[in-house]
Amino acid sequence: MSTNTTDNARKVTTRRLVEMKQRGEKISMLTAYDFSSAKILDEAGIDVILVGDSASNVMAGNVTTLPITLDQMIYHAKSVMKATRRALVVTDMPFGSYQGNPMEALASAIRIMKESHSEAVKMEGGSEIRESVERILSAGIPVMGHLGLTPQSINKFGTYNVRAREEAEAKKLLEDAKMLEEVGCFAIVLEKIPAELAAKVASELTIPVIGIGAGGGVDGQVLVMHDMLGINQGFSPRFLRRYADLAGIMTEAVQHYIADVKSSDFPSPEESY
Ligand code: KIV
Repeated sequence: MSTNTTDNARKVTTRRLVEMKQRGEKISMLTAYDFSSAKILDEAGIDVILVGDSASNVMAGNVTTLPITLDQMIYHAKSVMKATRRALVVTDMPFGSYQGNPMEALASAIRIMKESHSEAVKMEGGSEIRESVERILSAGIPVMGHLGLTPQSINKFGTYNVRAREEAEAKKLLEDAKMLEEVGCFAIVLEKIPAELAAKVASELTIPVIGIGAGGGVDGQVLVMHDMLGINQGFSPRFLRRYADLAGIMTEAVQHYIADVKSSDFPSPEESY
């Protein structure tokens, strides 16, 4: 199957993502939190691996992304980095690690880069976190922005509904996106906003805009791997396309194994020493 990339073996860098936008090549991005998954995604040719704070939900079973800690994000990112050769690895800064003040934010970002060897960080928010974004960028750390539905603010929003349907919120989102580009972010994620607004943001920015629930008029797409592979069955928003039913496949395999153990079919003499 063609992966529609011009040079499949070349390492993906922040600069290369901008070049991809310039020539109209869509950017593919998925989450991974462990060595084995990251190896599969990287060898399949994914452009960007996001060590997302969605690990809080799909790995740790928390209801929101808020509980995951900086130490836990670094642990996940380290495992992903050991497996990744080609993809750009971006690690989420977890809730509480950058909202306080710019120096704390810088210290958190430095820990992520130094201890995990990640290649960039992602931060949720616009004008509210501008100074922290600038401080991190001034240390030479690439930053990916994240606007629209920002799950770390779920307690403020109160729902996971589509954001920026109202004119005032849409206007602020566009201004925030332009500000993030101006201060030096290399890309922005737009989550769960109207497709028309996302396409407008993508057309007015020179940096890549990666969407999740933001329609097809942006420069790339990101999904949570556990959702798109059907490992996590409890989440079915309209924007999610399921590419496999791994929960079904795993259940069947485990039931087959249980039956083989119970019937003494496994192990066979050939599987014994
Ligand atoms: O944590 C995450 O997985 C994310 C994506 C939903 C963009 O931030």
